[in-house]
Amino acid sequence: MSTISRKSALLATAGVSVAALSRMTPAAAQSVQPVRITPTLDGPNKVTGDIELSWPSGNRVDIRSQADKDGAIYLCRCGRSLNKPFCDGTHAKVGFRSREGDDTAHRE
Ligand code: FES
Repeated sequence: MSTISRKSALLATAGVSVAALSRMTPAAAQSVQPVRITPTLDGPNKVTGDIELSWPSGNRVDIRSQADKDGAIYLCRCGRSLNKPFCDGTHAKVGFRSREGDDTAHRE
């Protein structure tokens, strides 16, 4: 993969289109953080990076109020949150468990 293709693929992963990239200054393009989604054990999906979250209508979801001090957000994986798409902690009350085969290496 060429350097340009690799950079475009990385930025696409980060939710940045090639058209948006072309409008960025080189310094801004370098600072784009790739999106990382990490399922937590028996809990939500932790999402980090330059995130843009949209409703099915296409309107953006305001994630600022839901982000932790490091800018991560937590998306409900159990389906029981009263604050979807965000986790509200209900997974613990309902005993949500990650599927067998999910990262069970850390389960005690
Ligand atoms: S994963 Fe936390 S409420 Fe659903």
